[in-house]
Amino acid sequence: MKLSARLNHLFENIIFQHQQTHYDEFWDLCCDHGFLGMKLFEKAKTSRVHLLDQVPKILDGLENKYAKFNDGRIEFRMQDAKTVELDATKNHMIVIAGVGGETLIEILEAIITNNPAAKMDFALSPNSHIFQIRQFLQPNFTLLSEDLINDANRLHEHILVRFTPNCAQSISLTGDLFWQTSPFAKKYHTKLVKHYSLINKNYPSLASQNAVEAYLFLAL
Ligand SMILES: C[S@@+](CC[C@H](N)C(=O)[O-])C[C@H]1O[C@@H](n2cnc3c(N)ncnc32)[C@H](O)[C@@H]1O
Repeated sequence: MKLSARLNHLFENIIFQHQQTHYDEFWDLCCDHGFLGMKLFEKAKTSRVHLLDQVPKILDGLENKYAKFNDGRIEFRMQDAKTVELDATKNHMIVIAGVGGETLIEILEAIITNNPAAKMDFALSPNSHIFQIRQFLQPNFTLLSEDLINDANRLHEHILVRFTPNCAQSISLTGDLFWQTSPFAKKYHTKLVKHYSLINKNYPSLASQNAVEAYLFLAL
């Protein structure tokens, strides 16, 4: 199964972390086609994989397509990602990719509120609201890795984090290393400044003003 550049980058980074820490359970939340979850299933031969989406038709399709490969390690779950319950004796890697930032924050918030004792890392690939996501992460997550990915001329930030309650402010609000290393940094910076300036103009708030100032401060 060939993954897109975006999903392949997530896959490689998740497997790198798996080699350091060993995940018992992978969760492909909002999985749709389930490509990433199935690739993790193929690679991590002793781990369980949960393919989860809230749309019944999607789950029917996944079961039809993948049930024949199931050696007992795949769970097909038709549910809202916000209702996930985690086994606190296991180490979890939870993927949230391809959804908007507001949905992503709602899911993250529900999972950490409902599973405060769980050992969990998250791989995030949001479609939007990156500044707000980083603000949300600051108090309770530590950074494992972050990158800027170009997939078919669309730029995505990928953030891998570990749930670390009350760690406070270890994550940069604007991102760090990729601004120096990515060939797409300048283009991405221009896009973010334009985006948050427009929001600040149309819906002025302290949050939108903070975002514009933070990105302008980078001055690439
Ligand atoms: C564009 S697809 C993303 C597929 C894949 N994760 C990726 O990155 O390519 C978004 C999926 O998220 C699902 N979704 C959105 N909100 C959800 C929620 N709260 N719980 C479960 N699934 C959700 C939708 O049903 C849809 O299938």
